[in-house]
Amino acid sequence: MHKRSFLGTAVALGLLGASGLAMAQDNVFKIGLILPMTGQQASTGRQIDAAAKLWMAQNGETVAGRKVQLIVKDDGSVPANTRRLAQELVVNDKVNVLAGMGITPSALAVAPIATQSKTPLVVMAAATSSITEASPYVVRTSFTLPQASVALADWAPKNGIKTVVTLVSDYGPGLDAEKFFKSRFEFNGGKVPEALRVPLMNPDFAPFLQKVRDLKPDALFVFVPSGAGSALMKQFAERGMDKAGIKLIGTGDVTDDDLLNDMGETAVGVVTSHHYSTDHNSPANKKFVEAFQKANKGLRPNFMAVGGYDGMRVIYEALKKTGGKGGGDALLAGMKGQIFESPRGPVFIDAQTRDIVQNIYLRKVEKKNGQLYNVEFDVIKDVKDPGKAK
Ligand code: PHB
Repeated sequence: MHKRSFLGTAVALGLLGASGLAMAQDNVFKIGLILPMTGQQASTGRQIDAAAKLWMAQNGETVAGRKVQLIVKDDGSVPANTRRLAQELVVNDKVNVLAGMGITPSALAVAPIATQSKTPLVVMAAATSSITEASPYVVRTSFTLPQASVALADWAPKNGIKTVVTLVSDYGPGLDAEKFFKSRFEFNGGKVPEALRVPLMNPDFAPFLQKVRDLKPDALFVFVPSGAGSALMKQFAERGMDKAGIKLIGTGDVTDDDLLNDMGETAVGVVTSHHYSTDHNSPANKKFVEAFQKANKGLRPNFMAVGGYDGMRVIYEALKKTGGKGGGDALLAGMKGQIFESPRGPVFIDAQTRDIVQNIYLRKVEKKNGQLYNVEFDVIKDVKDPGKAK
C-alpha cells in the first residue's frame, strides 16, 4: 500500500516534471539565423549577427509572452551547408522562423524547405530579385539589385556619363545589376560597349580592369558583394584607372560602410546608389549607429546590419500580431504589409510580393572629420523592385 502510493507519487511527479519542461519548451519562440560567419562573406555574418543581438538587447527577449531564442549557425556561405542547417533547424530544433541568408545561392537552397515546412524565411541579406518568388514563405528585409541599379542609370547620363562598361560578380545579383543598369542606361541614350563578369569566389580583377582601360569608357559600373569592395578599389587604383579619366560608379555594395574607411583616396568621389548609408541623416539612424558602435567596439553598421535589424523587427511585430501563437502561416500574414521607420528611412513590406519597398539614395564618398562616408545627395522615394514590375 505504502510502496504503491510512493511509486504513484514518484510517477506523477515525473510526469509533471516532464510536462512542465515541455511547457517551458513550447513557450520558447525559436529563430534559426543562418549566416556566413566564416569565409569570403564573413563580414555579412558579423554585421547581421551583431544587429540581431542589438535588436534583442533593445527590445527584450519576451514577446507576447514567448521567450525568444536566437539560434545562430555558420554556413560559410556554402549553399549545401545552408540547406543542411535549415533542415536540422526545422526538424530537430523546431524553429518558428528561418532567417539570415548571406548570399543568393543560400537563400535559393533554403526556399523549398521553407515551403515544405510552412516556415517563414526572412531574407536579411541576399538580393537577387527572384528570391521572393522561390517560395511563398520568403519575406525580404534587404533590397534588390534592380531596385538599387536603376537610380544610377538615370543619374549617369545627366551627369556627363555617356559610355559605361559594366563589371559584375557572375551570379544572381550581379546579373540582375548588369541587366537593369544596362537596359535603363541604354533607354536613357547611354552606350554599354562591354559587359564583363568576374567569378564570385576569389576574383582577380586585374585582367578585367585592363580591358576596361583599353575600352576607355566614361565610367565603370560595378557590382561586387559586400566584403569584396576593397580588393576592387585597390586594383582600380593600381591600374591608374581614375588617372586615365575613368570614373567608378556602382551599387553601394562596392563602397560598403564596413570597409570604406580603409579604401583610401581612390574611393573619394565615387558615386553609388543604395538603400542605406551609415551617414543617413535621421534621428532613428543616429540612434541606431550610436548603439551599434557602442555594442561592437566602434564597428560601423553597414546595409547588411540594417537588413538584420529590420528583419528582427518584422519577426517581433508578426509574433505580437499572432498574440504569441506564432504558427507559420499566421506569422507570414503578420509580416506582410508592415510599415515602419527603419534606420535607412521609411520602409514597407509589400503584401503582394513580400519584398521591401524603400527609398534609394544617390551618394558620393566624401571625407568628413577624417573619415570616409557615403554622403547622400538625392533620393528616389518608395522604390519597388523593378524586377517584379513585368
Ligand atoms: C547576394 O548574394 O544576393 C548578395 C550578397 C552581397 C551583396 C548583395 C547581394 O552585397
